Amino acid sequence: MQDVLSLCPREATVRAIRRETPDVWTLDLDPAGGHYDYLPGQYALVGVDQDRHVRAYTLSSTPGVTPGLSLTVRRIENGIGSTWLTARVQPGDRLRLSAAQGRFTPEHAPGDAYLLLAAGCGITPVMSMTRWLLTHRPGTPVTVLYHARREQDVIFADEWRALQQRHPCQLTLHRLIREHGREHTQLSATLLSGLVPDIAARTVMSCGPETYMAAASALARQLGVPEARIHSETFLPKNVPAVETAPADAPRHQIVLEPWGDRAETARGGNLLAALEAQGIPMIAACRSGDCGSCKVKVLSGDYRMGAQSALSAQELADGWVLACCCSVEGDLVVSQG
Ligand code: FES
Repeated sequence: MQDVLSLCPREATVRAIRRETPDVWTLDLDPAGGHYDYLPGQYALVGVDQDRHVRAYTLSSTPGVTPGLSLTVRRIENGIGSTWLTARVQPGDRLRLSAAQGRFTPEHAPGDAYLLLAAGCGITPVMSMTRWLLTHRPGTPVTVLYHARREQDVIFADEWRALQQRHPCQLTLHRLIREHGREHTQLSATLLSGLVPDIAARTVMSCGPETYMAAASALARQLGVPEARIHSETFLPKNVPAVETAPADAPRHQIVLEPWGDRAETARGGNLLAALEAQGIPMIAACRSGDCGSCKVKVLSGDYRMGAQSALSAQELADGWVLACCCSVEGDLVVSQG
């Protein structure tokens, strides 16, 4: 497992904090040294709670378009990172950051026309990419479908209005607000083909809860979008049965964490990271979805099953490293933080 300093070697000072909606705040940051390389739609790992933990947040700013860096964060009840960033951090405080990460960006998803779908806080990378496309690809049509629960939950409401006025030919925004009627806003082939008749010719990028993105990708496929032009982004665990979902009568397995001999236990099929954290063992786990590699541990012995593993190199896999957030415990395990 890596430590916060090695994961987040960069620093930034909080310039301003503003409330976007009842539960979403934007933190504007000035990166140390005045410069930070990133692409629209990427995220960074951020040291939170006095650098005791690391979490991943989308950079909601846009390189070369908006000044400095911004993080837009929804406060989640009992969320260590989001509560600390939105309630404790003040202008003038310093945050630790990683280099920018992620492939959910137009640079890795080329296209002559875009359909960007977002639900809830999934709008943050979509706003970053929209500003960038409007500025740097002026001939490229961009349609945004933004699902929100209520009017008051619409993030960047004023900026969306301003962008539409400034780019009436290039940008089409459909705000699909649940409180205005579920039947008119739910994702379906009829809705998508009605709002975006040329969807088959577009690059489709979705961000939001996993079920939302799965539905968006499946519908895009159904409506003729080639697989290579369908992209999605999530920080949620992939292919990982949570500890709580293991059957109550499943056999239980012991986990020993070297070099200190910390012990944990879980039912067969339980998630390794969750089992260790349930014992209060400090773990660095930023994205919790197999993307960042911050939770890697080496299995010295025992049976396990891996979900996502793309954050590990071929050599690390051969050496027995796993991503704890994406690892199911299938027998007694001895693991090491390396
Ligand atoms: S927390 Fe990012 S890969 Fe596990």
